[in-house]
Amino acid sequence: MRKLAAGNWKMNGTGADLAEVAALRAAHPSPAVDILICPPATLLSRLSQAAGPAIASGGQDCHAAASGAHTGDISAAMLIDAGASYVILGHSERRADHRETDAVVAAKCQAAWAAGLTAVVCVGETEAQRDAGQTLGAIGAQLAGSIPEGAGPDTLVVAYEPVWAIGTGRVPSPEQIAEVHDFLRAELTARLGPRTASGIRLLYGGSVKPDNAAGIFAVSNVDGALVGGASLKAADFSAIVTALEDAPV
Ligand code: PGA
Repeated sequence: MRKLAAGNWKMNGTGADLAEVAALRAAHPSPAVDILICPPATLLSRLSQAAGPAIASGGQDCHAAASGAHTGDISAAMLIDAGASYVILGHSERRADHRETDAVVAAKCQAAWAAGLTAVVCVGETEAQRDAGQTLGAIGAQLAGSIPEGAGPDTLVVAYEPVWAIGTGRVPSPEQIAEVHDFLRAELTARLGPRTASGIRLLYGGSVKPDNAAGIFAVSNVDGALVGGASLKAADFSAIVTALEDAPV
């Protein structure tokens, strides 16, 4: 399994920020891990060009339909046409801002697979759910409901993103991350079998920074990170990529 360092630019970035991608590319001409950047859709085509062959690009969402009367939306085939090979689906900000349910995320996942994209499906508990002891139950339900039949290592990446850790500077303890990642692996194994489940990359996301990345990457069943704020600057994201390259297998 090749680990994955994924950047989620969210609603940040214009053409001027492609300089960060050029700098990242120069710093990692032949990375020992997979690198992915998911910029806003307006930048996807240009970023895919600027990133070169060693850095993949992806969308932050796609519509469940292949085409049609959906003003403002973007299809999976359009993402591929713009150079994407991945798409983030079911990010907590989309689940909250756009009321995306597990069923909606699963339908989008199906559309992404039909077009040939790898889906990065996000799951994670709210602070209230954690405080109520519902973390694994909430995540298990999201995982079961958001991923259609037929998942495999080439089509699915799962990102564990505790909602309370996103953009807050708060990070779960290594024990808390391990508990969830071990649970995710077990759930995928029960559903898909050990051979398939062992190849699916499990990312941690939520306030990953250069100074905490190595500790997170040392946790069992953490196969990479989904990075928001710290993916916007090449120097920060590069340090996280290097930490992942240096992490224990
Ligand atoms: P953050 O965002 O790294 O800025 O906390 C992570 C994410 O939401 O993917």
